Order: sequence, then structure tokens, then C-alpha cells
Amino acid sequence: MPRVAAGADHAGVQLKDVLVTHLRELGHEVIDCGTHGLDRVDYPDYGEAVARKVAAGEADLGLCVCGTGIGIAMAANKVPGVRAATVHDVTSARLTREHNDANVICLGERLIGPEAAREALDTFLGATFEEGRHVPRVAKIDALLPTEEVAP
Ligand code: RB5
Repeated sequence: MPRVAAGADHAGVQLKDVLVTHLRELGHEVIDCGTHGLDRVDYPDYGEAVARKVAAGEADLGLCVCGTGIGIAMAANKVPGVRAATVHDVTSARLTREHNDANVICLGERLIGPEAAREALDTFLGATFEEGRHVPRVAKIDALLPTEEVAP
């Protein structure tokens, strides 16, 4: 059963808490990286915290929530080895595991209700990377260098 690191900003914390409870009820080990209240915080801090847990192997998969699920994904994707995907439904949740080998699911509390979010998360956790033709494509993503490291 995958270990999950979870994090959210103030705009995603309520959905994050619902999903963390759900994951624990299912028996997952969850590292809750915060935030833990409605005080305003910056979503990159929580995207980074989740991503570093996944990149370090302390968690197998990550769950990020902000208002849209977009900004926190942008931050998480800056950490090498992390492939964070913003999803809105079960289909995008399944396909990003099967095709992109995404290891962090990102959801938008302002865009998706708790039931749809729970179904998307369960689908993400239950899907597996299809490998085959997708392997070299994902390898190209992982091989991309930060701009400042690209030779002129
Ligand atoms: C916070 O107001 C909001 O900008 C943030 O949660 C997220 O939606 C950013 O992408």
C-alpha cells in the first residue's frame, strides 16, 4: 500500500484534510506536510515539501491541494524526480499514472468537490504505469535540465 505525502495551502487545506482522513481509513501511511489551518500561506512551500518527501523516497506518492491544483503542481515539478499532475476527474487521474507515471496528484479545492476528489485520488492510487512506449517519453521529461543548467 503506497505511503503518501500530503500538503496544501490555505485554499486547499479543507480538502486535503478530508483526503488525508480518507487515506488513513484505507490504511495508507500518510505524512501530512501541512498546512493545518486557514491562515494564508504560500502554496510553493507545500508543493516543495510534498515533492521532497517523494523524491527522497520517504513517500511513494504525493497529494497536493491548492485553490486550483495548478500553482502547487508547478512548484512540486521543480523537484527532480517528481512528476506532478493537476487532475480534475477520474479519467485524468488514471491516464496520468498510466502514461506519465505521475507520482504526485494535484487537486483544486475551488474546482472539485470532495466526492469527485476522493474518486480521482482512489483512481490515481489504484492505477499503474503502463510502461512500453511511455518509458522513453517519461525519461525525456526526467532528463530535462533546469534552464540555467542548459549549455548556451
Ligand atoms: C491562493 O489564493 C491560490 O492562488 C492558490 O491556492 C492556488 O490556486 C494557486 O495556484
